[in-house]
Amino acid sequence: MQVKIQPASTISGAIRLPGDKSISHRFAILASIAEGTSTLRNFSTGADPHSTLNCVETLGIGVDRDGTEIKVHGKGLRGYSVPEKTLDVGNSGSTIRMLSGILAAQPFLSRLEGDSSIARRPMKRIITPLELMGAKITAVDGTYPPIEIQGTVDIRAIDYTLPVASAQVKSCVLFAGLYANGTTITRESHKTRDHSELALKEFGADIQTRGTTASITGGATLTGRELLVPGDLSGAAFFLVAAILAKESNLILYDVGLNPSRTALIDFLVGGGARIKVLDMRSSGGELIGDLQVQASRFQGGVMDKGLTAALIDEIPVLAVLGAMSEEGLTVRDAGELRVKETDRIATVAENMRRMGIEIDTSHDGFRIPGKQQFRAAEVDSFGDHRIAMAFAVAGLFGHDGETTVNEAEAASVSYAEFYDTLARIRG
Ligand code: S3P
Repeated sequence: MQVKIQPASTISGAIRLPGDKSISHRFAILASIAEGTSTLRNFSTGADPHSTLNCVETLGIGVDRDGTEIKVHGKGLRGYSVPEKTLDVGNSGSTIRMLSGILAAQPFLSRLEGDSSIARRPMKRIITPLELMGAKITAVDGTYPPIEIQGTVDIRAIDYTLPVASAQVKSCVLFAGLYANGTTITRESHKTRDHSELALKEFGADIQTRGTTASITGGATLTGRELLVPGDLSGAAFFLVAAILAKESNLILYDVGLNPSRTALIDFLVGGGARIKVLDMRSSGGELIGDLQVQASRFQGGVMDKGLTAALIDEIPVLAVLGAMSEEGLTVRDAGELRVKETDRIATVAENMRRMGIEIDTSHDGFRIPGKQQFRAAEVDSFGDHRIAMAFAVAGLFGHDGETTVNEAEAASVSYAEFYDTLARIRG
């Protein structure tokens, strides 16, 4: 599908975001191994969390879908049945990495595969700790999907220092730890999103956290819950950037997830001069939720490296768009993980930027974009990557000399099915 984007004069109105993708995955997985029915409201409309639901259905768990309200009929920690077919994770790295933690502790063989992008995502990072815990896993070249997991009921507790700061890997190990006889510990160099730790607590797991360390003791029974998924802050990022850049913008975003392990985005934007206000903050299901107001702003630009890069990794494509129109530009370092996302996002950002007439220098783990540049209308590609599709749809709003075309624009629906409709509603 091609989407045509006309230049926008302003961004205004009020929007609600789809349910957070990261939280939807975790609620779906934990609900599937809890005792009894869980009701998950504002569940993500994105294809990725629905891939997780499809997988738990293949494992014999009943799922009722009524729009964004999902009921998962969990059968307890040992309630999965032997899958009769390969588990299809679609485009979802979160599904394959996090579900593997549970499958490692099941007394059967599972096979997981996904689309052509998944076939290039490294899995060694979960295979290493899960093998230390006692599972046997095979993968193409020792790392790429399809993967086969021979689980074990004798899963061992481990004390694991993550070589790459990754919430998916941490979650995988903690989920396997639910089944271990003893306490499993994860240690990270930088704090990554802690939705799994919060959700595990909500479902009744025995888990403690301290700084960048989490400890889970196996054997607790999880209980079905009624939970609300907060709006997706990573989805909000596209509209925050659009509103900062368009003249006289004034946009309200309702019920956005504001978990402190995700809000580095807002701190970075506000730190660079963006006019963003949190209007109301409350807590639900262990997560913080608030309404945001964003107005047109002059953005300074800046440097992003180390832990900040890890905390903002999903937002970097759209922050690159902001960087090009900022006062001083944007430098991104220590972001080698961008190369192993749904696409090599250093390469795909650079390719589309150049097509739109933007100067960018790349390195092995980042890029530098000078500020005060003007986007030219062009034909860009999503390369099948949702965040690239949405970031360059936003760039198209500022293509000063005409219409921008986004090819394979449907990729956005992996996390944000309603993205283009919402964009059409708030543009001047
Ligand atoms: C996610 C963690 C991050 C992020 C991804 C979602 C999660 O990946 O990029 O979009 O839900 O835990 P890594 O764990 O690979 O850093």
